[in-house]
Amino acid sequence: MGALPGDPQAGANLCAGVRGMPYRWGHIGERPGAWRGPGMVTQQSYRDAMARLGAAVSVITTDGPAGRGGFTASAVCSVTDDPPTLLVCMNRGTDLNAMFKANGVLCVNVLSAAQQRLSPLFGGLVPADMETRFSAAAWHALATGAPALDGAVVSFDCRIAQITEVGTHSVFFCEIAALQSGAAHEGLIYFGRAYHRIAGMG
Ligand SMILES: Cc1cc2nc3c(=O)[nH]c(=O)nc-3n(C[C@H](O)[C@H](O)[C@H](O)COP(=O)(O)O)c2cc1C
Repeated sequence: MGALPGDPQAGANLCAGVRGMPYRWGHIGERPGAWRGPGMVTQQSYRDAMARLGAAVSVITTDGPAGRGGFTASAVCSVTDDPPTLLVCMNRGTDLNAMFKANGVLCVNVLSAAQQRLSPLFGGLVPADMETRFSAAAWHALATGAPALDGAVVSFDCRIAQITEVGTHSVFFCEIAALQSGAAHEGLIYFGRAYHRIAGMG
C-alpha cells in the first residue's frame, strides 16, 4: 500500500513489501488503534497487539542436576518436522532460566481446559514454591526425565539443541525426544488476556 496524501509518514517509512509493493511499518488502516511508524510501536502497543494472538497454554518443565522447575508459557511454536523441533521463549530474568539451560532438557505440557488452574500457579500469579506447584498435579517421566503432566493434551519431551538470546528472552530450540498425546477433549487458549475453552478433540 502506498503512502496517503498528507500523511506525515509519507515516504519516511516505506520499504519493499510483498511482490515489491511498498508498505508502511505497522500500517493497519486509518482506524482508531492503528499504530504507524517504527517509533510508534511501543512495548505496550506490542503487548496489546499480541493479546489478540490466541495461543495454547503450556507448562514447561525441567529436571536434572540443576533441579526441578516449571513455568507457564504461551510462546511455543513449531520450527520444523525434520528433525522434529519446536521453540520456547523464556524470560531471562528468572532464576529458572539458568536451571533450564544447565539441565539441557524440557517438557512442553499443553494444558487441557480442566487443567487451567495450573496456568496461574506455574505463571507466578499464585504465591507458591516449586514443590507446592508440582504437588498440584501428577507427573511422570518420558525420555529425558523432564516432568510430563498426567492428562495433558499433549506432551513434547525435548532436548535443548540451540539457544538464542533475543532482548529479554532466551529462545530454546528443542528437539523432540518423545511425544505423548492425552485423552483430553477440551483444549485451553489464552486470548484477550483471558482463558477460553475450545472443543474439538474427538
Ligand atoms: C498465560 C501465561 C503465559 C505466559 N507465557 C510466558 C512465556 O511464553 N514465556 C515466559 O518466559 N513467561 C511466560 N509467562 C510468565 C511466566 O510463567 C512467569 O513469569 C514465570 O513463571 C515466573 O514466575 P515466578 O518467578 O513466580 O516463577 C506466562 C504466564 C502466563 C500466566
